[in-house]
Amino acid sequence: MTGENDGVIAAWNGVLFDKFCRFKHLLTVGLSAHSDEALARHAYPAAARVLDVGCGFGDCAQRIAAGVGPRGAVLGVDCAANFVEAAAQDARRACVGNVSFFEADVQTDDLRGPYDFAFSRFGTMFFTMPGAGLRNIRKALEPGGGLTMVVWRRREDNPWLHDAEMRVREIVPVVSHEDTDQVHCGPGPFSMASPDMVSALLRSAGYDRIAFERHDADICIGKDLADAIEFAMALGPAGEIIRLAGDEGERRKPEVVAALRETLAPYVREDGVWASSSTWFVTARNP
Ligand SMILES: C[S@@+](CC[C@H](N)C(=O)[O-])C[C@H]1O[C@@H](n2cnc3c(N)ncnc32)[C@H](O)[C@@H]1O
Repeated sequence: MTGENDGVIAAWNGVLFDKFCRFKHLLTVGLSAHSDEALARHAYPAAARVLDVGCGFGDCAQRIAAGVGPRGAVLGVDCAANFVEAAAQDARRACVGNVSFFEADVQTDDLRGPYDFAFSRFGTMFFTMPGAGLRNIRKALEPGGGLTMVVWRRREDNPWLHDAEMRVREIVPVVSHEDTDQVHCGPGPFSMASPDMVSALLRSAGYDRIAFERHDADICIGKDLADAIEFAMALGPAGEIIRLAGDEGERRKPEVVAALRETLAPYVREDGVWASSSTWFVTARNP
């Protein structure tokens, strides 16, 4: 693995893995509102061989595996050994036989291709070298093979992340990645929100037939208001600001909780806390 990406890998394998485990109930179920639709619109044929990029807990990989059937195969790849282990364990428990997982940095390592397709739900936005990552994925695809990425659209259409970030910025001093030696998640959830920028990246990584489809969905961001506040303080841009601020972030938490209670209260419904969210389904082909 490249030394350059060590801090990001350490973050995903450590502090972010722990937080994702705490909020697994929201992440796997909530985010599937986007991936289920992407996989329904861009279904994979039986017997296809598919790579799930930045697979996390591997729930998408399992879903794809069901779609491609026993003659197909799905490999989930993640740079964090803890996610790879958790994904393999979940798949074993669910008795899904045609899925397996391996640890690799998608930007630099051998991806064990060739694949007919590559899929990623919210995995590619954290690449520190997105051009290298996208090129490496393309090289692992068969000629004519397709990539589908689900990425967040612009901040303003994802208020559950953006409003929380704005409130936290008012209270907690923002420490940039460059000014701290703490590990960090990489570029962040909105790094692929711009179609112009992403299509240029894909073009220079060698893809053609690049297309963007907008998808909007309400997603559950907490069982109740307290859960939604905890979620916002732990993950996403707001959570990263609090974490990178270190002791000061901890000291300001009571103020942050009060502000987030106000910000997130309008999203409370009888069946939990629900907010609108918006993604791009980005598709591209290896010529
Ligand atoms: C936001 S999580 C998404 C996980 C999963 N796809 C999901 O939707 O629940 C991003 C994932 O990408 C992985 N990741 C980040 N950079 C990576 C890289 N360079 N190579 C492989 N995996 C990477 C992280 O370890 C993490 O599991």
